[in-house]
Amino acid sequence: MKIATIVGARPQFVKASPVSCAIAESNLRSRPPEVVIDEVLIHTGQHYDYEMSGVFFESLGLRSPKHNLGVGSGSHGEQLGKMIERLETALNTEKPELVLVYGDTNSTLAGAIVADRLHIPVAHVEAGLRSFNRRMPEESNRVLTDHLSSLLFAPTPTAVKNLEREGITAGVHLVGDVMYEAAVNHVEIAEEKSTILQRLEIAPKKFSLLTVHRAENTDDSARMSRILAAVLEISQVECVVWPMHPRTRQRISATSYEDLVADGAIKIIDPLPYLDMLLLEKSANVILTDSGGVQKEAMWFRVPCVTLRDETEWVETVESGWNQ
Ligand code: UD1
Repeated sequence: MKIATIVGARPQFVKASPVSCAIAESNLRSRPPEVVIDEVLIHTGQHYDYEMSGVFFESLGLRSPKHNLGVGSGSHGEQLGKMIERLETALNTEKPELVLVYGDTNSTLAGAIVADRLHIPVAHVEAGLRSFNRRMPEESNRVLTDHLSSLLFAPTPTAVKNLEREGITAGVHLVGDVMYEAAVNHVEIAEEKSTILQRLEIAPKKFSLLTVHRAENTDDSARMSRILAAVLEISQVECVVWPMHPRTRQRISATSYEDLVADGAIKIIDPLPYLDMLLLEKSANVILTDSGGVQKEAMWFRVPCVTLRDETEWVETVESGWNQ
């Protein structure tokens, strides 16, 4: 069986890693050999900086993509349009029997739309998540992708219920969270290999870790100013480490940037490779984030988390008491 896996943005490289490993392992065990899965990786090129893409392939042991569509940045229409056009060509060349998509990015939706039009069944990993905030592009990406999918791999019972509420019950499988598997598989290696604490000259549990990249924060100047004011206040108490997403870097003015780095208590750094990020998360005193994945990793590592949003898809992290 031939599967085309479509990825494009940073969290998708993390999610695809345990699944690709499982496919490779099942191929080794496969008897008779005709049930072997031929997995072809297609990268839309949504994330293209080495720090946002290449380094993840290296640290997660992912194979290089067979196709890189080089779509890059742009408005939603431009990004989706280019992806749809180029994915159609790639899928027509590969002729897979199944298309596998992950999460909630524009790459996810573009993959689902093209597969649907070519009558190729879609499998969605991380199906059923909802923030119930339709102003988020991620929310419409999730809803539309789920409604185009034949196989829906839900990470939590909440996700299964969300699908049921929308009338989706066929093809739904409660499978658990692939990001948990990735974190468990890599955290020991991170502890052994990562030198991030030494490089930043910080001690475990003596710093806060911050990530901000959602458009609802970065593209709303009032929200962004409140976040920056809070970060400055926190930095009076303890050092704040901030691996800064390119979207956020584009939105922060030069003056704000200088205010933030002035007294050295806020360390603004480039986006981090996966292993360094896992070690920083595990070592942080508190995590502040608007990322979905980072909220969960905080809970798994038993680090208190403040989510910089009005709602979350991962309600279990709040119910467990680790996320506010
Ligand atoms: C995307 C996803 C979001 C996911 C996030 C993970 C959508 C709508 N959003 O948001 O769900 O949580 O990825 O990071 O798909 N840029 C670079 N270098 C890069 C990548 C991006 O400079 O390697 C810049 C581009 O100028 C772009 C901006 O960052 O304009 C935002 O990138 P984009 O792909 O639009 O979305 P993300 O904010 O990363």
